[in-house]
Amino acid sequence: MTEAIAVAPLTTAPTWRALSDHYAAVKDATLRDLFATDPERAPRFTVEGAGLVLDYSKNRITAETMALLFQLAEERQLAACRDAMFRGDRINTTENRAVLHSALRAPADAVIEVDGRNVVPDVHDVLDRMASFADRVRAGNLIGHTGQPIRNVVNIGIGGSHLGPEMAYLALRPYSARDMRFRFVANVDGAAFTEATHDLDPAETLFVVSSKTFTTQETMSNAHLARQWLIERLGDERAVAKHFVAVSTNAQKVAEFGIDTANMFAFWDWVGGRYSLPSAIGLSTMLAVGPENFRAMLAGFADMDVHFRTAPLQQNLPVILGLLSVWYADFFSVATQAVLPYAQNLARFPAYLQQLQMESCGKSVDLERRRVDFATSAVLWGEPGTDGQHSFYQLLHQGTHLVPADFIGFLQPLSPLAAPHDLLMANLFAQAEGLAFGRTLAEVEASGVSAADAPFRVMEGNRPSNMLLADRLDPRTLGALIALYEHRVFVQGAIWGIGPFDQWGVELGKVLAGKIASELTATSAPDLQHDASTNALIQRYRNARHQ
Ligand code: F6P
Repeated sequence: MTEAIAVAPLTTAPTWRALSDHYAAVKDATLRDLFATDPERAPRFTVEGAGLVLDYSKNRITAETMALLFQLAEERQLAACRDAMFRGDRINTTENRAVLHSALRAPADAVIEVDGRNVVPDVHDVLDRMASFADRVRAGNLIGHTGQPIRNVVNIGIGGSHLGPEMAYLALRPYSARDMRFRFVANVDGAAFTEATHDLDPAETLFVVSSKTFTTQETMSNAHLARQWLIERLGDERAVAKHFVAVSTNAQKVAEFGIDTANMFAFWDWVGGRYSLPSAIGLSTMLAVGPENFRAMLAGFADMDVHFRTAPLQQNLPVILGLLSVWYADFFSVATQAVLPYAQNLARFPAYLQQLQMESCGKSVDLERRRVDFATSAVLWGEPGTDGQHSFYQLLHQGTHLVPADFIGFLQPLSPLAAPHDLLMANLFAQAEGLAFGRTLAEVEASGVSAADAPFRVMEGNRPSNMLLADRLDPRTLGALIALYEHRVFVQGAIWGIGPFDQWGVELGKVLAGKIASELTATSAPDLQHDASTNALIQRYRNARHQ
């Protein structure tokens, strides 16, 4: 049975109307004035949870804004929706599934039931199998077809079966086995596979084929390339058995591909692709950082789960961040939001969050099948600081778009080079300060700039940001940080009344690509029935390919 908590159309909610009126009253308030008139503003708008500190004082909000947003959360039954998810109700109504990524990091003695079965022992069985496999590989005890130990791991997957494992590996690289090589192949462009494998010895290489469905075109194409690459080089089909493992929910398809299901690590349909890093999809990350660090990451996820479940709305980090996203998207008409981690190891974190946020909340029909009459997800993007500063920050400071930003920083450096950390953190704090408070014309002129040049140097400020700080980028902190954003997505979905756990929007492209692929490769001229533009593009490609 599907279970959804029915809510009224969002824009008819009484608090929504109150927020519209409130927005009209505060939209021109400046952060300069808000800070000047309230010496307690920074502590008032700083909260802590699961090892993370969130200072959200540099947002275009007042105490009344937050009170109204919390009231909206109550009105939209956020707490009830959240509890339904953690309980295992089938809240993914459009796919008739439970949503239980939280069970992947639950302690072994927890009881979480799906259709009357406690899934926690299954989760821990798989984790234990992953751990003993990872220990074997890392110790050099997994022997390949020619008798050499496995030293290279190539993860083949896409979307949630790629972005999480790659992002987490890069984030935790200092904790990884430095005597091994880890590569990640997603793109169906053969260049991705070629680059990832060109310098690898096949005798020492393990492919981890990661796919929830084990039908995804790109992953299957790359997995077949890998099979061929291995067999050609080792000269024996039987090599596949020792150089391939699978991570999937689909044992039948894994077997059809030719991987023994004894070499398969399972997960379940109640784990969404973009929420699957803490499942067996994290196997390649575990191979890199070891079971202990992987379990520490899971503990960080669990810390944030507990925080999200138990902290009052007013102290709840994902709730506050989710509500602020709604505030900007729907009242300030903000179209994009930036995530700016001041940590080189989080270079792929914005890419990971893009799938999490936009595949989840990029919807325009609510769960009651109504076309929404408000904005849903902003476009999310970002790069690590300080690199972005010398690229697109100009627009953040002086452009015509309002781009709320999440800054992420760590009090201690991850690298052994402590000295540059002061400079990194100085830049982090300076950017948030500059965006919020800018530089007035009077200040620019007072600094000796001529009246003619001064207008170009004015920074109007009032550009909002959140500041997230943690002690150190370690496995536990990474888990908490990821779960923070998972739950932020959930909060937005609940307020908007949309289903954040399906992704029907990516299906059409898959179907069309399948049809066009056969037209591109057909030996006799196909009867092209597309629009004139698509027909011509296909024809142009065919002319080049078949000449
Ligand atoms: O097409 C989108 C998507 O279904 C994502 O949600 C998912 O993470 C990705 O494709 C990969 O799917 P799979 O793990 O089944 O190969």
